[in-house]
Amino acid sequence: MDLMGFIRSLPKAELHLHIEGTLEPEMMFDLARRNGVALPYASVEATRSAYAFSDLQSFLELYYAGATALLHERDFYELAMAYYCRAAEDGVVHAEVFFDPQTHTARGIPFDTVLNGLERAGRDAQEHLGISSRLILCFLRHLSEDDAFATLEEARPHRHRIHGVGLDSSELGNPPAKFERVFSVCRDLGLHVVAHAGEEGPPAYIWEALGRLRAERIDHGVRAVEDPALLARLARDLVPLTVCPISNVKLRVFPAMAQHNLKLLLEQGLRITLNSDDPAYFGGYLAENFLAAAEALALTRGQLVTLARNSLLASFVTETERAPWLQRLEQVGEPDPVPN
Ligand code: ADE
Ligand code: ZN
Repeated sequence: MDLMGFIRSLPKAELHLHIEGTLEPEMMFDLARRNGVALPYASVEATRSAYAFSDLQSFLELYYAGATALLHERDFYELAMAYYCRAAEDGVVHAEVFFDPQTHTARGIPFDTVLNGLERAGRDAQEHLGISSRLILCFLRHLSEDDAFATLEEARPHRHRIHGVGLDSSELGNPPAKFERVFSVCRDLGLHVVAHAGEEGPPAYIWEALGRLRAERIDHGVRAVEDPALLARLARDLVPLTVCPISNVKLRVFPAMAQHNLKLLLEQGLRITLNSDDPAYFGGYLAENFLAAAEALALTRGQLVTLARNSLLASFVTETERAPWLQRLEQVGEPDPVPN
């Protein structure tokens, strides 16, 4: 079997995927036309050519502009359904999907319009594609603590429809500690907790996400490599890192895939998972992230099995849900007999 076929055959969970980041230019244009929204681009081609980023902030500006095409429940449904269809082709059996309610409520879109559309797509994905999913509400860290608390109040009546909370957007200058109180309330509500940290921000932000927010997974986390004590802690506690290889190269966290540190982190015993982050903007869904990393870093098939296995182990599903996927994975391949 060729490498892409092997990658697609691995049952995998996707744990770091912003649903707004799956808005392909074609759908952006269709929705903008249908909704009477003006876009800052002349065409689909012009949109794609604008996707050349120098850092996280340069990407976020286009990502928030693109999201203005989304207005109605149906739009959120179609967006998520398109993602689930694409993910199914890549062997994704389970997805924990981030959404950014503040991006939409700030434009006057009701919180439950967003949630209803995403949730209905999740139900249909289960029924028609056999993919299970959960929704993780992300707070935008460039906004204030008050804004996050107001969003939490809007979410509270829907608490049972949301599986966890996360923290995204502009990292530098917005440390996790800014949201310590919000996350404390979220934990008291029984929500799972994750946070972006160590994408552009320093290792201190990863320590804060672990210590102050009690994050169960770290999104990105690649700058942990700069702090040996932090690496030891992440390895000891098997804290999952949701690494996004193509994103990291497109946002210039690493100059090229061959310089990415995910193999090193994996071989140090960290629970590394691979994910696609914002695939419509970075040009690669989950299997393409596996393939790009495998080719540039000479990952063995055993390491690819470990990465898939890590994603299943790091997901917030019950053991009953996880067991059949792990069994299927064992039939496809075995991890290398090294400490990864
Ligand atoms: N929002 C969408 N993608 C993001 C990323 N890679 N980092 C921070 N915020 C994001
Ligand atoms: Zn992200």
